[in-house]
Amino acid sequence: MRVAIIGQGYVGQTIAVGAAGAGHTVVGFDLNAGLVDQLNSGKSHIEGISDSELASLISSNFFTASTDPSVLEGSDVIVIAVPTPLDGDRNPDLSYVHAAAELINQQVKSPVLIINESTSYPGTLRNEIAARITGVEHLFASSPERVDPGNTQWGTKNTPRLIGGLTPAAVAKAREFYGSFCDSIIEVSSPEVAEAAKIFENTFRQVNIALVNEFAQISDALGISGREVIEAAATKPYGFMPFNPGPGVGGHCIPVDPSYLAHVANEVGVPATFIKRANEVNLAMPAYVVKRVVTGAGGSIAGKSVVVIGVSYKANVADTRETPAAAVIDLLRAEGANVVWHDELVGSWRGESSVPLSPHDIAVVVTKHDGVSDAAIKACGYVFDCTGTVAGVDGI
Ligand SMILES: NC(=O)c1ccc[n+]([C@@H]2O[C@H](COP(=O)([O-])OP(=O)(O)OC[C@H]3O[C@@H](n4cnc5c(N)ncnc54)[C@H](O)[C@@H]3O)[C@@H](O)[C@H]2O)c1
Repeated sequence: MRVAIIGQGYVGQTIAVGAAGAGHTVVGFDLNAGLVDQLNSGKSHIEGISDSELASLISSNFFTASTDPSVLEGSDVIVIAVPTPLDGDRNPDLSYVHAAAELINQQVKSPVLIINESTSYPGTLRNEIAARITGVEHLFASSPERVDPGNTQWGTKNTPRLIGGLTPAAVAKAREFYGSFCDSIIEVSSPEVAEAAKIFENTFRQVNIALVNEFAQISDALGISGREVIEAAATKPYGFMPFNPGPGVGGHCIPVDPSYLAHVANEVGVPATFIKRANEVNLAMPAYVVKRVVTGAGGSIAGKSVVVIGVSYKANVADTRETPAAAVIDLLRAEGANVVWHDELVGSWRGESSVPLSPHDIAVVVTKHDGVSDAAIKACGYVFDCTGTVAGVDGI
């Protein structure tokens, strides 16, 4: 098939490589000219895709990137993979989705299968995309992306893929497309079910992470190790699923998607109380971390040199979106500490650069990428570990 993908970020590029690898002719459309040039020169910008894999798909003409919207016309399939962030009031911002729909409306005059992979609330495909694309009998399906960047066990191929379409013909064509590079396809009765499943999955994680974050604080106050309790509870072979405490939640999904569910819940008059409380608990974690650091370091960190280790939101990715490291650093500075950070994957962020890992008065481990040495961390005077991976130091 001839496939056009709108948006070449984490999701768009992942699908582009999956589809091109299966022998489809893929064009990755993005407004960001710098990114398009980078991709066309064979340089991947995400961890799970190597430069050589990308370069080989380009040289065999299975993949090309473009900023020219006319590439959309003549496709068999168009996949929308654009950002769905929150606005300043933490409400859904569908402006990128609307812009993608408008682009298709203007550019595409022959019938095509339009799939939305961007995460959004139920009703988005029907009311925010299909309703804006008029005059041509397109097929519409929703297949929310479940990619977990950096996960080496579960990728596009072996993560079961949900499909819901506006018509049986849309579902059949979407099945044919995804079946060419995904092992397992699960059809659901409507796009709304597929859309809701994705945001419910992430809400499940958000709420459970908040629960375990609160539990870690209770355990610490009781003088027992929350992590040991979780490990012990996880020995039960049924009815329990372990989650790990940490400095908060980050990335594009867990801090954002539940608010999409809360938004529609509010519209239909059902208060999403768990989501609200989970947000509060997770957003308060950086303050809890800094309180523990101040106490652990002897009551004051004013004038102390502090290195924050790992500023991306999770291990082995360079993604700093919504990272709790930002609040941890700001709050450490508010306590008067001189704070630098070490994260070679991120390199530069918020106008600052990663420093080499050397001894400081205090180290706060927010995220630990592979290859960061425990010995170098422990060379610091006081260590607070938010990851549970540095043995024999203070932490959550
Ligand atoms: N990153 C993840 O781990 C992940 C996982 C599952 C689902 N999702 C969802 O997938 C969607 C995309 O996320 P992402 O992480 O790939 O975002 P991203 O920010 O990495 O990439 C989005 C890309 O879309 C481009 N773009 C924006 N508007 C455009 C337009 N009108 N036309 C063409 N290109 C446009 C941007 O330039 C950017 O390169 C979001 O809804 C997100 O919630 C993300």
